Amino acid sequence: MSDDLFLTLTDLTLAYGDNAVVEGLNLSIRKGELIALLGPSGCGKSTTMRSIAGLLMPRIGEIRLDGVDITHTSPNKREVGLVFQSYALFPHLSVFENVAFGLRLKKMDGASVAKRVEEGLVTVDLQEFADRKPAELSGGQQQRVALARSLVMDPKVLLLDEPLSNLDARLRLEMRTELQRIHRESGQTMIFVTHDQGEAMAMADRIVVMNEGKIEQIGTPEEIYNAPVSRFVADFVGFENIFGIKDGKIETAEGPVTPANPISGNASGLAWRPLMVSLGEGPFEGQVLSSSFAGNTREYLLQSPFGHIKAEEEATRPIYAIGSKVTFDLPIKSGVVLERMG
Ligand SMILES: Nc1ncnc2c1ncn2[C@@H]1O[C@H](COP(=O)(O)OP(=O)(O)O)[C@@H](O)[C@H]1O
Ligand SMILES: [Mg+2]
Repeated sequence: MSDDLFLTLTDLTLAYGDNAVVEGLNLSIRKGELIALLGPSGCGKSTTMRSIAGLLMPRIGEIRLDGVDITHTSPNKREVGLVFQSYALFPHLSVFENVAFGLRLKKMDGASVAKRVEEGLVTVDLQEFADRKPAELSGGQQQRVALARSLVMDPKVLLLDEPLSNLDARLRLEMRTELQRIHRESGQTMIFVTHDQGEAMAMADRIVVMNEGKIEQIGTPEEIYNAPVSRFVADFVGFENIFGIKDGKIETAEGPVTPANPISGNASGLAWRPLMVSLGEGPFEGQVLSSSFAGNTREYLLQSPFGHIKAEEEATRPIYAIGSKVTFDLPIKSGVVLERMG
């Protein structure tokens, strides 16, 4: 069997009652990959995870894991682990017993349980906390207990649904690194859900961008960041200047604009990050509406023949005053070609 087909979702349609929230979803995941499902709230990320975990039966489609059709397999027979943002630890049990819980349910003998739990606690770096109760741990430590509890079950796939959302900004960054280390050292196939593009970019081998129950794009973080294929993905990853193309002209709020160089191919749109806008030179003129300090850079909002343009420059460059006129260019060469304007 090819590693390319370790977990495959084929033509999945997922619904609650009459309401189909995921339609025609196709996704293949390789063994050992760390995949991020990225998309805005309500786009169907958790629903997709629930179907992989067996908590929601697909209306249409098939789920295969490690060569076996598990579409109708009960959750406890799937060898799929699920960690939620709420850790759902047993408050009256010690860390050790929380992690041991699933193994004891499987009637594993005491010595084997102890060995597995100790290994699990070492993996998440909590070996010294085995006797504590969850209330005696920080949020990050509780999340690591939840992670260990899933890892000791040795799942074929570990699903993490917004695992870092309940943590404060600093702990989130720490847990990112921690999860990456655990993934690297364990080779565990993982799918994690996030609505935070920075988190997805930093951690994932591949990112699946979802919108309204459909996959918009699948790619490495570099591909998603540098070469979004649709308006939705471009917008989601920070291209703030996005225009449709019609008859070789750029469609703008103020009518069609003829580009300085012809646009090649059959682009349906072009997109520029604020940093790709060149200021102080070029065929177009805009007026500075706002100017704001952003650390290493300064951000400008321009009124222009394109409507509003968001530009960004190194903070060391001379500052353009609000109200002043500035020439600029949206270089066709650096503009990212969009296949779809949806
Ligand atoms: N138990 C449920 N019953 C009915 N509708 C639901 C249920 N859970 C989620 N939904 C709806 O399904 C859509 C997708 O939800 P969800 O998968 O939780 O999104 P995400 O995790 O991407 O934020 C939303 O419109 C949501 O309101
Ligand atoms: Mg969700």
